[in-house]
Amino acid sequence: MRTTMQGLSALALLGAIACGNGSSQGGSPASPSGAGVAGDAGTGSGGSTAGPGSSSGDDASSGVASGGTVAGDGGPSADGNLATSGSDGASGGPRAAHVANPYAGATFYVDSEWASNVTTTAGQQSDATLAAQMRTVAGYSTAVWLDSIASIAPADGTMTLAQHLDAALAQQTGSTPVVITLVIYDLPGRDCAALASNGELPATTAGLGSYEHSFIDPIATTLGESRYGNLRIVTVIEPDSLPNIVTNSSVAACETAGPFYEQGIEYALEGLHAMSNVYVYLDSGHSGWLGWPTNSGPAAQEFAKVAMATTSGFASVDGFITDTANYTPLVEPYMTATESIGGDPVDSATFYQYNPEIDEVDFAAEMYGALTSDGFASTIGMLIDTSRNGWGGSARPSRASTSTDVNTFVDATKVDLRANRGLWCNVSGAGLGEPPQANPPGHDASHLQAYVWIKPPGQSDGTSASTTNSQGKMPDPNCNPDYTTSYGVLTGALPSSPLAGQWFAAQFVQLVQNAYPVVP
Ligand code: BGC
Repeated sequence: MRTTMQGLSALALLGAIACGNGSSQGGSPASPSGAGVAGDAGTGSGGSTAGPGSSSGDDASSGVASGGTVAGDGGPSADGNLATSGSDGASGGPRAAHVANPYAGATFYVDSEWASNVTTTAGQQSDATLAAQMRTVAGYSTAVWLDSIASIAPADGTMTLAQHLDAALAQQTGSTPVVITLVIYDLPGRDCAALASNGELPATTAGLGSYEHSFIDPIATTLGESRYGNLRIVTVIEPDSLPNIVTNSSVAACETAGPFYEQGIEYALEGLHAMSNVYVYLDSGHSGWLGWPTNSGPAAQEFAKVAMATTSGFASVDGFITDTANYTPLVEPYMTATESIGGDPVDSATFYQYNPEIDEVDFAAEMYGALTSDGFASTIGMLIDTSRNGWGGSARPSRASTSTDVNTFVDATKVDLRANRGLWCNVSGAGLGEPPQANPPGHDASHLQAYVWIKPPGQSDGTSASTTNSQGKMPDPNCNPDYTTSYGVLTGALPSSPLAGQWFAAQFVQLVQNAYPVVP
């Protein structure tokens, strides 16, 4: 997935475009306008975490009783969660009550297949410190992507959805619930503004029917099995899709796919929200993509439109995620968007193109405000994918530049080392970001429920090489290090990358080397 920004037309000069999950780009126009891209997050050791304010065992009071009973009493728990329901799921059977923050007080699921790639790569390192860091990372939680019909029950021996859920149950210790994050990613006409993660289903009525009945229905049926009633199952719905409707409608493939995206997502929300232990988060791009108010406002309206079309309306959505599979930093520590450099505001620099959101924390706060203004409840939560937005390593600036030229200042001060915020494919120089954790401290206005690692670090964003595959993925020039993008800069992509989703050891090595914070 990747997001691209693209072009908007002249009008757009005030807005921006970006696309892609796993990345996105932003296309930006000439003057005040812009585009951007995103990034992701990670967890702590063992995949479990408990941020401040969250403690293990919150479920004792939130109604997740062992044995699959549900309390549904609405009592606040130790971590501030509130059990709001205890309804049976669509497929029957007792289910844990819905809590305000599914990550709080939970053990984060660790995907053994991803961890196995990590430990194999660790075993190939001559640097003992690096290898040890990789083995630490192998204990972190990453999302499981359902990116094709076959991925629900693969025939190649890799884990099925049910096996992941069974493994999640097996990772439970005591009464602390396990939270597993699933990415739902197979819309008709997928990744309409890019090529690397084009999908298997066409943007047609028939494609939509396959999505609903051969993809969403079986997923919902599996999640609804009574033995999974005590798991907390977070679903991240279709990265890049609704943001592409907002900013890339001038791309023919996006114009065609847009109505199918909306209908497919409405169907997914209906099926998934029906189960009290399933949580639904929509993808809201990243700061370099939707940061301009001319993009964040229409994006919030688009999300509201889709939510309102469902039976439960706004209540069918638990929250939103930013920076999915992208690389945009959590914070730019040495400057603010509005500070004046030689008389010019930071956000007037070429790199920002008058986008007032220069990092993910501030963007999450901006989106939260726009979403709640448009009707979403104040209880919605924000997630940030921090898996690859660390930007550490020796090239990371350690202080603000003293230049009085705004472009020189920004280029020397920003920790985001990309040449353009729209670059999204296997970006060189990037590092792992904050480990996955619930209730990350310090950013109250952002209403953050967790940092999560949605894009499993080490999995490729795509390839520019011709490739035979049954998933619909295409060669994408944005993954070629020698390609000059529409932004007039090289892609910054690492060379020789494999197909999107496949293990890319060279990228993983660099992500660990450039981790910020440094992996212990
Ligand atoms: C790919 C998916 C993959 C995901 C996570 C996406 O870019 O298209 O197939 O599962 O990344 O790596």
